[in-house]
Amino acid sequence: MSRRSRGLPRRAFVRSAVAIGGASAFAACLEREADDGPARASVDPDDRPERQHAWNSAVREDDHGNYLLPEHHVLCCLEYVGDGPTEGEREQLEAAFTSLERAYEWGSEGLAFTVGYSPTYFDRFDKDLSEAVDLPQPEALAPIEDPEPDAYDALVHLASDYGQAVVGAEEALAGELEELNGVGVEGTLEGVFDVAERRTGFVGDGLPAAEQANAADVPDSEPVPEDAPLFMGFKSGFRENQASEDRVTIRDGPFEDGTTTHLSKIDLNLHQWYEQDSREQRVAKMFCPAHADEGRLEGAGHNLGDGADVDDCGETAETDARERGVVGHTQKVARVRDGDEPLLLRRDCSSTDGDRAGLHFLSHQRRVADFVATREAMTGADLAGSTAVGSRTNNGILQYLTVRRRANYLVPPRRHRSLPTPNPS
Ligand code: HEM
Repeated sequence: MSRRSRGLPRRAFVRSAVAIGGASAFAACLEREADDGPARASVDPDDRPERQHAWNSAVREDDHGNYLLPEHHVLCCLEYVGDGPTEGEREQLEAAFTSLERAYEWGSEGLAFTVGYSPTYFDRFDKDLSEAVDLPQPEALAPIEDPEPDAYDALVHLASDYGQAVVGAEEALAGELEELNGVGVEGTLEGVFDVAERRTGFVGDGLPAAEQANAADVPDSEPVPEDAPLFMGFKSGFRENQASEDRVTIRDGPFEDGTTTHLSKIDLNLHQWYEQDSREQRVAKMFCPAHADEGRLEGAGHNLGDGADVDDCGETAETDARERGVVGHTQKVARVRDGDEPLLLRRDCSSTDGDRAGLHFLSHQRRVADFVATREAMTGADLAGSTAVGSRTNNGILQYLTVRRRANYLVPPRRHRSLPTPNPS
């Protein structure tokens, strides 16, 4: 059954259960999804690819060939509580992750996940992290922000079109289930990792509109369009505006076939976004002024096909800032590309954690420096100042975002995903 044909009331119900989590949410998802459950794995875990971030071949595509992220996301921020890391703990974790891979088909119809490790995790070792990896501690990346850096050891990112798969995976990892989707659970995180924080999110046409009533910082007029997959009202993640999985993969060294994750927790101010600006201004600020002038977007922008059509907009960023007094988000970040390919593979989701409208910005890139360079272009310091473009105002979408947290993780290749050392052989 396709995701859309499942019906919005059911999808919104399941989303609410994912936000709550725990045993009763798992039971509620099982009941609501009883007629159409997630698929059991058809591939032996030993035959899975080394790249944990190899999701594209296993997620659904829309009519234009854009990869659609799974609908439900859970981010488990983990604190190491073990006695080592020891070989026994590694085996325990590997059994836990392999149990998830046996229980569910890989991807949207089952479960996709990545396991990443932070600079804080690697700091406990005497040896330095392999020189082939760029993994700095997270820090503020613009003068206008003051995020708290996350100091967790690890991150498990779970994603599925089924609420029961993400919540079930969490319950199994926590040692609360003996069986998952009919498959025995052979390992857990118990005694190795505690879940220090849980974040949840969603992506998918219709869900943000359904969720807007549950979130502060959304006007009472409930302005989020019915066809929008994200809270800010536009489609994102077009194929042409994403890095390929190859582009974000570490190419050599012990972590070859791994990648890095940048994760930020962003609060959205949708009062300002929807009440202060006209649709034309929103299009100019999200994409670029030419998109607004020429009316290139219908609705959320599904008519754009497989690309946001910004190839030439980067070149006009400076002129737009000077002469139009406004510059677009996509226009700014599209200035940082390798040839015609962006450096980031974004897998972000909207959120109502804390009953606030927010976004968990999650991107993979080969080097964290690729993220930093792209974020600098988004800050647009070179464009702000002498015109109507300020450090926040008329400067893309910066005025509507508050970055609360930042984190960087190394996502090792599968062979090192369970408690890696800094320079494994
Ligand atoms: C609420 C936050 C954000 C929203 C709603 C948003 C939305 C969008 C949209 C609509 C696009 C154009 C189409 C597409 O995604 O394919 C885009 C492009 C892009 N965004 Fe964002 N974005 C957000 C935050 C960020 C952040 C924090 C970064 C990191 C620096 C970022 C990096 C990019 C990149 C690299 C592109 C593609 C540029 C290219 O084609 O070269 N975005 N974003």
